[in-house]
Amino acid sequence: MSLQGKKVLVGLTGGIACYKVPYLVRALHKVEAEIQVVMTVAATKFITPLTLESVSNRPVAVEMFPEREFVSTRHIELAEWPDLVVIAPATANFLGKTASGVSDDLLTTIVCATPRPVIIAPAMNPGMWNNPVTQRNVKTLQDLGYRMIGPDEGEMACDHTGVGRMVEPDAIFETVREFFEADAKKKVLTGRRVLITAGPCREPLDPVRYISNRSSGKMGYALAEAAVALGAETVLVSGPTNLAPPHGATFVPVETTEDMHRAVRDHLAGTDCLIMAAAPADFAPDVIAAEKIKKGDSARTLDLRPTVDILKSIAKDKPDGLVLVGFALETENGLENARHKLAEKHLDLIVLNNPRDPGAGFDVDTNKVTVLYPGRKPEPLALQSKSELAYELLERLAAMIH
Ligand code: CTP
Repeated sequence: MSLQGKKVLVGLTGGIACYKVPYLVRALHKVEAEIQVVMTVAATKFITPLTLESVSNRPVAVEMFPEREFVSTRHIELAEWPDLVVIAPATANFLGKTASGVSDDLLTTIVCATPRPVIIAPAMNPGMWNNPVTQRNVKTLQDLGYRMIGPDEGEMACDHTGVGRMVEPDAIFETVREFFEADAKKKVLTGRRVLITAGPCREPLDPVRYISNRSSGKMGYALAEAAVALGAETVLVSGPTNLAPPHGATFVPVETTEDMHRAVRDHLAGTDCLIMAAAPADFAPDVIAAEKIKKGDSARTLDLRPTVDILKSIAKDKPDGLVLVGFALETENGLENARHKLAEKHLDLIVLNNPRDPGAGFDVDTNKVTVLYPGRKPEPLALQSKSELAYELLERLAAMIH
């Protein structure tokens, strides 16, 4: 399998197993992966950067603040550049620092900042490996999603025999290859275009006030992140939130329901699936005051006009094959209301939740939903993180698009 176009950041920390890493880098280079090597200063005592530059065909990065070199935010660029990070060998010191969030050199800072998967090949003396502190750090890292490969049992440079030897470069190479193979299989939305809306809309009342709702945008952003990870060309149309736009998605910020409607229409061409996870406003002030409305003494009544229903408007002249998905946030008669919205808005799927259910609702990272398809029995799903739910929904949608 060629790894052409795949980017791997290989990080070396200070251990004698460094001398084996050029074999790994060469193997990756042979299958056309792009490789960026980053070394700690301690690693450079065991093997020279020049050796690794020769086999990777790229300058090796070592220092966080090298003199006479413009680096600016290089640590962030290097953290975002790869598809995969491999740390080999990883010392007990590196494991401890990473498990505790310490980022005091270029490599640990990159590992702290990277949104990419990290595979770690530890290498150390058996006493250090078996130390309960090291074992605790390994467990912390594994629980956080870092993947450990090895160490092996065998003879060590220190003449001891036991567990602690770095797995051979061939085995690390195999793990990297398997990672990319599995990743390719997971990309069920490759070649598909998904348009997602998220967050609340704001309807201005005057230059300083607006009507809005409590949507945090978390579900929509989780969907956009998952859609990118599953290979979709992803557009995220979002009302104002406190969340960072996901990497890899086209981000379209909007404010009012009318803006959101326009943005959805503008980006609809070629879309395979529209997911309306946003909470548009159902009403907007009839008149937007040009100047700040003064308090006055008397009670006030707001005149509101209905806004456009984006889903209904899109459903009216729905392009062939477009899969339409809505969310229904209900505090009572959930199933009945969701069924009604499914039919009324001509949806292919509606995701029902109740903000009063434990673990569901605004600003939390979990969600408990029931999914409804036309003509099928409602399916309640387990309480799960918004990210897990996003993957589950998109995998269901991938099957519907195909
Ligand atoms: N929606 C929309 N345009 C609107 C309001 C809602 O496209 N102006 C979408 C939402 O993004 C969601 C679905 O319609 O996917 C259902 O939204 P919800 O607020 O639950 O229902 P409403 O249709 O607004 O009805 P109600 O507020 O009466 O429950």
